[in-house]
Amino acid sequence: MSRTLFVTTALPYANGLFHIGHIMEYIQADIWVRFQRMQGAEVNFVCADDAHGAAITIAADKEGITPQAFVAKIAASRAQYLDGFHIAFDNWHSTDGPENHQLAQEIYRDLRTAGLIETRSVEQFYDPEKRMFLADRFIKGECPNCHAKDQYGDNCEVCGAVYAPTALIEPYSALSGAKPELRSSDHFFFKLSDPRCEAYLQEWTTAPGHVQPEVQNKIREWLYKDAEGKGGLGDWDISRDAPYFGIEIPDAPGKYFYVWLDAPVGYLASLKNLLDRRGEDYAAYMARPGLEQVHFIGKDIITFHTLFWPAMLHFSGRKAPDAVYVHGHLTVNGEKMSKSRGTGIDPLRYLSLGLNPEHLRYYLAAKLSGRNEDIDFNSEDFAARVNSDLVGKYINIASRAAGFLSKRFGGQLAAPDAEGAALLQSLQAAAPAIAALYDGRDTSRALRDVMALADKVNEYVDQNKPWDLAKQQGMDERLQAVCSTCIQAFRLLTIYLKPVLPALAARVEAFLSIAPLQSADAAALLPAGHAIAPYQHLMQRVDPKLLEQLFDAPAPAALAAPAADAHVPGGEPIAATIGIDDFAKIDLRIARIVNCEEVEGSTKLLRLTLDVGEGRHRNVFSGIKSAYKPEDLVGKLTVVVANLAPRKMKFGVSEGMVLAASHADDKTDAGIYVLEPWEGAQPGMRVR
Ligand code: 2FM
Ligand code: ZN
Repeated sequence: MSRTLFVTTALPYANGLFHIGHIMEYIQADIWVRFQRMQGAEVNFVCADDAHGAAITIAADKEGITPQAFVAKIAASRAQYLDGFHIAFDNWHSTDGPENHQLAQEIYRDLRTAGLIETRSVEQFYDPEKRMFLADRFIKGECPNCHAKDQYGDNCEVCGAVYAPTALIEPYSALSGAKPELRSSDHFFFKLSDPRCEAYLQEWTTAPGHVQPEVQNKIREWLYKDAEGKGGLGDWDISRDAPYFGIEIPDAPGKYFYVWLDAPVGYLASLKNLLDRRGEDYAAYMARPGLEQVHFIGKDIITFHTLFWPAMLHFSGRKAPDAVYVHGHLTVNGEKMSKSRGTGIDPLRYLSLGLNPEHLRYYLAAKLSGRNEDIDFNSEDFAARVNSDLVGKYINIASRAAGFLSKRFGGQLAAPDAEGAALLQSLQAAAPAIAALYDGRDTSRALRDVMALADKVNEYVDQNKPWDLAKQQGMDERLQAVCSTCIQAFRLLTIYLKPVLPALAARVEAFLSIAPLQSADAAALLPAGHAIAPYQHLMQRVDPKLLEQLFDAPAPAALAAPAADAHVPGGEPIAATIGIDDFAKIDLRIARIVNCEEVEGSTKLLRLTLDVGEGRHRNVFSGIKSAYKPEDLVGKLTVVVANLAPRKMKFGVSEGMVLAASHADDKTDAGIYVLEPWEGAQPGMRVR
C-alpha cells in the first residue's frame, strides 16, 4: 500500500538569509521525499518563513520598514537557493499568513477548553533603557545548568537545557547591555506539568518510530522526574506583551502568542495554504487514515518538536506527528557554525561560482546517517569523494559503453549474455536493502552500497574490455551485449541515485530515451532493441579552482596601514595628490550591515555581514569594536571599499573594508566614526 506523507523541515527565522545548515537540512528532507515519491508515496512537502518574534521587529526597525515588509524581502530571497539546490518544496508560506493566525488561535482555544491554559502574573525582565519587556533571546547570561556563558534566555545552545530567562545567572540585556529589571505582567501558560501531558508525552516519545533512540535519551532528562519527584516538565509561558510582532491571543487584548507557539502551527498553515490553492479540503486531508506527519529538524530544537508540539496537537484534539527526525550540526573544515552567520560555505556563493549543486547533495548524503550526529564538510574529502564515486565509478560506466553502441549499433541494446544477466540480477536484488536504507535516512550506507555495485560493474567492464572487443573481427555480438549490460547497469544505478541526483537523473533519462524512473522500474530491464540517444558528457569533476575560491579568496593584499609617523596635532597631513583616474580605481559602494557580531578571541574586531547589492553577502572584519556594539550597527547603511583584494585574517577572510573616520592616534571608543550615507542611498550604489 502506498504511503501518504506530510513532510516538513524546520521553518527558518525570517530575519536572515539561508546558511549552509539550512540547505543541509532541506537536502536531507528533499532526498527522503524524492525517494518516497519514487516508491509511489503521495507526499506534501512544505516549509515557510518563521516570521514572528522580537528579533524580526528589531531587524525591521533598524531598516525603517515594517516587519511585514522585512519578512517579504527575506521571502523573496528564498527561491534562488531552493531552485539552485533542487530542493522541491510543494509550498513555501509564512507564519504570518492568515491560515496560521486562524489555526494558532483555534489550537489555543481548544487547549483552553481542555483546561490546559492558565493565567499567572509573572515577573519578567524589562529593559529600563529600551523601555520594553525583553524577549528571551535578548536576555543573555550564564546557563543555570552547565554554566556556559552568554546563553540566550530560553534555552542553552551548549547543553540544550530549557529554562525561564529569570533562571539565567548574571543576566544582561542584549539590546542595551543594561541590567534588566523584574516587572510583573499577566502571562498565559500551557500547563505541561499537568499529569495528562506528562503521561501522554512519556507514551508519545517512547512509541516506536516517533524519535530516534539517541534523541529519546536526551528527552528523558527533560521529561522524567527524579527519584525525589524533582524535575520533569514545567508549564510553558506562551504569551508576550505588546509591542510584539505575532498573533493576538483571543480574548486577551495586548497579549500575543510567543513565536514558538505559532511557529510549528506554521507547518499546518503552509499545508492548508497549499491544499486551499489546489481546491482540496484540509480537514479531510488531515483525517485521512494512514496519513503520516513527519518533521525534519536540527538537534537544537528537539524540545519544541518532541514535547511542546505533540502535546499542543494531541490536547487540542489534533493528530500528533508520526516522526520527528533529528539531524546533527554541520561543521565546515572542522569549524563550528554560528546560527546567525553560518559557516565557511555561503550557499549562494557556491552556486554563483558555478559549483555543481548535485556535488553538494551527493557529498552531504554520503555523510548523513539517520542518526543525530554532527558531520563535517571537508573540502579535500568533498572533491575526492565526488570525483572518485560519481565521476570515476558511476558516470564512467556509461561513458565507457555508450560510444560503441551509438557508433556501431545505432544505439540499440542487445540482450545481455549469461555473465551480464547475472551481474544485472545482483544489482536488481540490492533494491530492497537500498530502499530500506533510504527510508531510514541512512543515505551514507545507501550510497556506499550503490558504489559497491558500481565497483562490480566496473570490474565487469575491465574483464570484458569492450575497447579490445571493438578492435577484433567477429566480436560485434559480444561487444553489443557487453555494452548493453553496462547501459542496463547504469540505468539501475541511476534509479538508486535519483533521490540524491534528480537533475542528473533527468539527463540520464533523456540519454536513455526513457520515461522518468521510479523505484519499481528496477524490477525490469530495458527490452532488447531499445535505442538510446548519443552520449553527451553527464557530469564534470569538481573544479579545484572553484572549490578553492569558495573558501579562500584571491591573493591577499596588504592593507594600506595608516603611516604611524604621519601624526600632526589634530590629525594627519593630507596625502600626496592623485589624479581622478587614481581615485576611480577605488570602488566605493553603499553597503547594508545585515549582521554584526563580536569575533571570539579579538578585542578589536567586529565581524560584519554586508549586502553590497550583489545577490550575496560579504564578510568584512572591522577594527571598530571599541566604538560600537554589534546591535547598534545591524540594519545601518555604510560605505565599503568593494574592490579591495580579499584579505585572509586570523579569523577568516575579509572581503572589503568599511570606511570609518578617526584621528591617527585616537582609536578609543570616542574616536572612531563609521560613515553613514544620507537617507535614500541603496546597497550597491557607487560612491564617487
Ligand atoms: O530554530 C529555528 O530556526 C526556528 N525558526 C525553527 C522553527 S521550526 C517550527 F517550529 F516552525
Ligand atoms: Zn547549558
